[in-house]
Amino acid sequence: MAETARLNVDGKDLELPVLKGTIGPDVIDIGKLYAQSGAFTFDPGFTSTASCKSTITYIDGDEGVLLYRGYPIEQLAMEGDFLESCYLLLYGELPTAAQFEVFKRNITRHTMVHEQMTRFYQGFRRDAHPMSVMVAVVGAMSAFYHDSLDINDPRQREIAAHRMIAKMPTIAAMAYKYHVGQPFVYPRNDLSYAANFLHMCFAVPCEEYKVHPALARAMDRIFTLHADHEQNASTSTVRLAGSSGANPFACIAAGIACLWGPAHGGANEAALKMLEEIGSVDKIPAFIEKVKDKNSNVRLMGFGHRVYKNYDPRAKILQASAHEVFEALGVKDDPLLDVARALEKVALSDEYFIQRKLYPNVDFYSGIILRAMGFPTSMFTVLFALARTVGWISQWKEMIDDPAQKIGRPRQLYVGPAKREYVPVAKR
Ligand code: ACO
Repeated sequence: MAETARLNVDGKDLELPVLKGTIGPDVIDIGKLYAQSGAFTFDPGFTSTASCKSTITYIDGDEGVLLYRGYPIEQLAMEGDFLESCYLLLYGELPTAAQFEVFKRNITRHTMVHEQMTRFYQGFRRDAHPMSVMVAVVGAMSAFYHDSLDINDPRQREIAAHRMIAKMPTIAAMAYKYHVGQPFVYPRNDLSYAANFLHMCFAVPCEEYKVHPALARAMDRIFTLHADHEQNASTSTVRLAGSSGANPFACIAAGIACLWGPAHGGANEAALKMLEEIGSVDKIPAFIEKVKDKNSNVRLMGFGHRVYKNYDPRAKILQASAHEVFEALGVKDDPLLDVARALEKVALSDEYFIQRKLYPNVDFYSGIILRAMGFPTSMFTVLFALARTVGWISQWKEMIDDPAQKIGRPRQLYVGPAKREYVPVAKR
């Protein structure tokens, strides 16, 4: 694209700068449009609008590419581990061996939560959705960690980041334990990040629990695959909340609230429920017909993505991981995996899905794996929140570091009543 774009508003010629990224589409800078023309732009759902400059994550939805700081997700998930990706997302480069040791020690030594927080859980009903507990407990961290709330102090920002990455597994595992009525299990610093999390979820005081290495590896991969995804709804929520100067714990709690929705993080729960409802391969054709019927309001959950108009690269990795997990668990046949595979095959050869470029997304397989590991569906989005915390906090940190940062304040097209006179209730 040329250096500038031209726009004619009401007979007035405007020249708008065109910004170029390292890769990806050019961006027309409309920052001065209102001042120059008196007009706003209209883009509900931000389908054509870049909300910020970022150096963290890049997605090419048409090609099915996902890069963290330039590194392909496939390499990070298969050859590295989650904490390495955390370092990369937070600091911009892969750590040296010495840097990685220090970082791992910092995270591992911060896994315990303030003991008083353990009592905070007792206030919730046992049948509370664990995501409601997550929103509240993570928000409440700002009531416990006062020495990392000053967003203008880079060291406090870093401590807050480390605290959240370190404590999120503990908080999530406690939400699970409370939900199932078992005692909390304290973190174990001799285990890896993923193994420690599985241990806190599935160990009980009355017997020894050994984490299967294949399950820890699959968990680690799920975390890596979910660690960041550029300016999605929950990340944009974190940035918007943070743009007002709100403390990092409050911002992450806002991100968790947004992630809870079924069109976002709640989709793997919905995808699994859908697979259970379909139940067997012979019911797939009837279900597909329902999905294609515009009056049914039924969608093929785990399919389609706002950005990926090709196979989601994360779904490919998880499809392979599902096999590894089932093998480790000694499951020879899983009817849900059979339904998922058959459903994928049918959908990928159906004109409706081909035309609309609808492919499996990350949620299509993650639910099957998590269920096999023993997690109830209500925990799926919690695990997503745990993994995404590093992405949220990296994006938040990038925003605060940006000298051009200002409070986020979208405009609107007002279509309500024009000014009118108040009528007292007796005369209405
Ligand atoms: N099943 C059936 N049809 C679909 C689906 C689906 N899963 N997704 C999109 N479509 C159809 C729409 O009906 C629409 O058809 P039309 O043009 O005939 O009206 C067309 O495809 C475009 O759909 P939009 O809703 O405009 O696409 P958008 O980019 O806004 O939606 C979304 C993306 C919300 C993810 C959508 O595909 C969806 O609802 N999928 C199911 C939920 C899901 O799996 N979400 C997980 C997202 S990944 C994540 O958050 C990690």
